[in-house]
Amino acid sequence: MVAARSAAAPAASALAATAPVVAPSVASALAERPEHPVVGRAVSHESAELHVTGAALYTDDLLPRMRGALHAWPLQSPHAHARVTALRTRAALAVPGVVRVLTAADVPGVNDAGVRQDEPLLPAEAMFHGHAVCWVLGESLDAARLGAEAVEVDYEPLPSVLTLGEAIAAEQFQGAQPIVTRGDAEAGLARAAHRFSGEFEFGGQEHFYLETHAAIAQVDEAGQVFVHSSTQHPSETQEIVAHVLGLRSHDVTVQCLRMGGGFGGKEWQPHGLAAVAALGAVLTGRPVRLRLNRTQDITMTGKRHPFHASWEVGFDDDGRLQGLRATLTSDGGWCLDLSEPVLQRALCHVDNAYFIPDVELRGRIARTNKTSQTAFRGFGGPQGMLVMEDILGRCAPLLGIDPTELRRRNLYAPGQRTPYGQEVRHAERLPAVIDEVAARADLDARRADVAGFNATHPHRKRGIALTPVKFGISFNHTAFNQAGALVHVYKDGSVLINHGGTEMGQGLHTKMRQVAATALGVPLGLVRLAPTRTDKVPNTSATAASTGADLNGGAVKDACEQIRARLAVVAAERLGVGSDAVRFAGGSVTSVGVDAEVAGAALDWREVVQRAYLQRIQLSAAGFYRTEGLHWDPVRMHGDPFKYFAYGAAVSEVEVDGFTGAYAFLRTDIVHDVGDSLSPLVDIGQIEGGFVQGAGWLTLEDLRWDTSDGEGRGRLLTQAASTYKLPSFSEMPRELHVHLLERAAEEGAVYGSKAVGEPPLMLAFSIREALRQAVSAFGPAGHAVELASPATPEAVFWAIEAARRASGS
Ligand code: MTE
Ligand code: MOS
Repeated sequence: MVAARSAAAPAASALAATAPVVAPSVASALAERPEHPVVGRAVSHESAELHVTGAALYTDDLLPRMRGALHAWPLQSPHAHARVTALRTRAALAVPGVVRVLTAADVPGVNDAGVRQDEPLLPAEAMFHGHAVCWVLGESLDAARLGAEAVEVDYEPLPSVLTLGEAIAAEQFQGAQPIVTRGDAEAGLARAAHRFSGEFEFGGQEHFYLETHAAIAQVDEAGQVFVHSSTQHPSETQEIVAHVLGLRSHDVTVQCLRMGGGFGGKEWQPHGLAAVAALGAVLTGRPVRLRLNRTQDITMTGKRHPFHASWEVGFDDDGRLQGLRATLTSDGGWCLDLSEPVLQRALCHVDNAYFIPDVELRGRIARTNKTSQTAFRGFGGPQGMLVMEDILGRCAPLLGIDPTELRRRNLYAPGQRTPYGQEVRHAERLPAVIDEVAARADLDARRADVAGFNATHPHRKRGIALTPVKFGISFNHTAFNQAGALVHVYKDGSVLINHGGTEMGQGLHTKMRQVAATALGVPLGLVRLAPTRTDKVPNTSATAASTGADLNGGAVKDACEQIRARLAVVAAERLGVGSDAVRFAGGSVTSVGVDAEVAGAALDWREVVQRAYLQRIQLSAAGFYRTEGLHWDPVRMHGDPFKYFAYGAAVSEVEVDGFTGAYAFLRTDIVHDVGDSLSPLVDIGQIEGGFVQGAGWLTLEDLRWDTSDGEGRGRLLTQAASTYKLPSFSEMPRELHVHLLERAAEEGAVYGSKAVGEPPLMLAFSIREALRQAVSAFGPAGHAVELASPATPEAVFWAIEAARRASGS
């Protein structure tokens, strides 16, 4: 995804981002950059060469290094919901090469893959079609597979609930039902000159990371369990493995080399799989390898939550939002996992960029007999925001106001607060990014071009739309906003860093090397990064909520600064100055105001390190960071859960074919706020990738389950890339221009940067709204276009038909 872009745009954007703009004064030591920082340089991803040559190792690539490893294969339920009344393993054990069948009776600790006790690891009841009821270990994958086929299971089928509609009708909910309120929604609606209501149900999304879930576990002679896992949350994988095995955390180490994509799908879901591998390793004494194939991964693991929303909204005569009352129901699948925090984030993002004086937002989680829906880039935020963008897109023609104008009129102004009580700091960046993207996209002129095109083309129509993004950064759950790091400087001056974050392609390790090189004042080449392990940095949070760089960057910087302060004392002595006057940059150590080029004025970094060692100065440090100023009351759904907001805006133009509903993405322009970028190439890649992933969610990716009452009820019908359409090169906008907002330093984050991982996904709303605009051109003025999500060509076709009917043609 990252490689797909218009040739000229990224280089230009990267240059713009690194051009020496005058840094605005930043308040905190955390945000301040030294001279000649290594952060901010456009360096390529730290593993780029390994990625493209195929040399990069992922968890399952370690298998050849594990002598005597066994392979695990699941036996998946053929029913959407059924009690397991008997499970006979004898025939399986007779299959050549089968070593063991893992069942609930084998679990020495807690038979649960989560922390809420609603997720049995080896279940007595199959809760969805594809649910693993036992695992077979074999000398080869084939042996394990044949063994699974030979296991005899008796099922007693039970009634199942599959759709959100069925669950809502049956009032089958799980977990808390939070409410966000401000003021009096009824009063807001009552005073509104224009009042509308509607419903909107929209689809989820499969992560489709290139690397499927994988774990390899082994046990050493002292009973220490070591698990390689493709996990975004090694500490939680460690905890779950320990509680399944009845061990303590210090008995279990989890390592994550890197992931071939996680996208939230590996925030919760790897734990149970790692626990199965670890259980097998403990019981057999041999390494156990578990890797889901694509079909298993897509039928067993959770996806983005689909949502249903019903809403009532009121506007005044100028189109200003007065009141909103909405109920959001997510489809949580069979168990909770992350559904509660996902719903919280959804409710905290319904407002998106807009001020709504009187609000009442209710949330519920449906329990259905499907995979347990989970984190996915944006973590509910996209779903909440989609509800609002859909409302504005539908209501604009009813109000007779241009949709971009309607959006502008409702933007937050500085000083205003969100419905959950947090002040929208830097709200002025919303009109700033909108103005800039409108100018860069030449929006006004192109709107006229689009109108001209539409006037002369009865069967093809174009649409152009602008949508903004405001996304809160930090985990809602305050305690998660902490991180640790371990930094070693060796006698030869080389540096090794460990931190609690995981690498899933997003470039976190690249940024952390840049942070360490900046903080120590050494060239990037001196800094090496070691894989994430729970025995190096304990009690870590998931690499999620886009906070990886903020949190771990803070911790790496802290560790490096401790070492640098010790080295400064050593250097000061040698330079004959006070330690405050010592500067570290580019591998030289000088005193302030002295030109490093002057002979004898600069000490070499290595020399200072050597001296420090001889003086018995500690050259290693553990760093720690916690985000200050956060508080969140999950019961009242009120507080300041976010350190800051990331802002962005996009303009997209599309062309739609009136006969088929097929469409093309012509051009997208993006202006996005990443603060002062830590690593511009990485950030641009994240923006492009996030945008395309969002466009896939909103237009192509259509998860379908068998909802019939037949044999296959509950089966995922879209099990492969043949039926589940992912965006590829041909779905990229023909022109894609990404620009980083300049002079955007964020005083509350490491080296003035902002998180980038998730917010750009929601820039893809511009594609959906452009499609809506194009469809509306087939109908009369004032026709509110209702567009399904995903807006597949088929959905667009039906929306065109409705528009045509409205104009009586
Ligand atoms: N980019 C790539 N290439 N692969 C991924 O799996 N995950 C996204 C985003 N960007 C992802 C990605 C998600 S869901 C999150 S929360 C962030 O990266 C996590 O990393 P960060 O906190 O370091 O930004
Ligand atoms: Mo990202 S959904 O927070 O892993």
